[in-house]
Amino acid sequence: MPLRGAVSPPPPGGMGPHKEEKMKIFIDTADIAEIKEALSLGVLDGVTTNPSLVAGTGKEFVSCIKEILEVVDGPVSVEVLALEYEEMVAEALVYAGWAPNVVIKLPVTKDGLKAIRHLSGHGIKTNCTLCFSPMQALLAAKAGATYISPFVGRLDDVSQDGMELISQIVEIYGNYSFPTQVLAASIRHPLHVLQAALLGADVATVPLKVIDQLLQHPLTDKGIQQFLRDWEKRAQ
Ligand code: E4P
Repeated sequence: MPLRGAVSPPPPGGMGPHKEEKMKIFIDTADIAEIKEALSLGVLDGVTTNPSLVAGTGKEFVSCIKEILEVVDGPVSVEVLALEYEEMVAEALVYAGWAPNVVIKLPVTKDGLKAIRHLSGHGIKTNCTLCFSPMQALLAAKAGATYISPFVGRLDDVSQDGMELISQIVEIYGNYSFPTQVLAASIRHPLHVLQAALLGADVATVPLKVIDQLLQHPLTDKGIQQFLRDWEKRAQ
């Protein structure tokens, strides 16, 4: 069975003027086996990577990303390592040339904002990452970011409410119809995904383990076993 493709079909009638209407699920990994497994479920819309995730594969950066691009048609976030504007743009242009579905991931810094403005002006999609405040998200939207990535789990880790940040950004973007999509990142468990969906986040990027957890319910397993037992007991 071919694995290639953004396996969730586009919404009937196409997309709205600014945002897609359905919540998207991305996988947060650079592990090709995990990506293929998630693709096979038929619910995956894209991939986010970061330098830590690529390093964790033990693979060389370029070949790791290109291997992902060979099997995924949906958006694939590729993060720049440069910290200064000119170098960020130069790095971004190389990555953007690899495939039309590459999304350039840049940190929400002064240089990052400048690079986002430049890249979005040239039709290159961007994911503004390492967002920990609603005002960072406002500036990212004004710079023209395609996605903003608020890190929910890392805020929870320091006793701040990560989901409150999602709520504030969704409200601010809604107030002004910013087209920037809210991509809930640093997701640690199914409740994060539930809350992101309830708040209207456009995307949740989720580790494979959490995608698996979203599906699990003990009553589903119990029900299947009961059906099989009853079927075996039927009158022959
Ligand atoms: C976002 O795109 C990042 O890759 C990721 O969600 C960070 O998650 P972590 O806080 O679990 O490292």
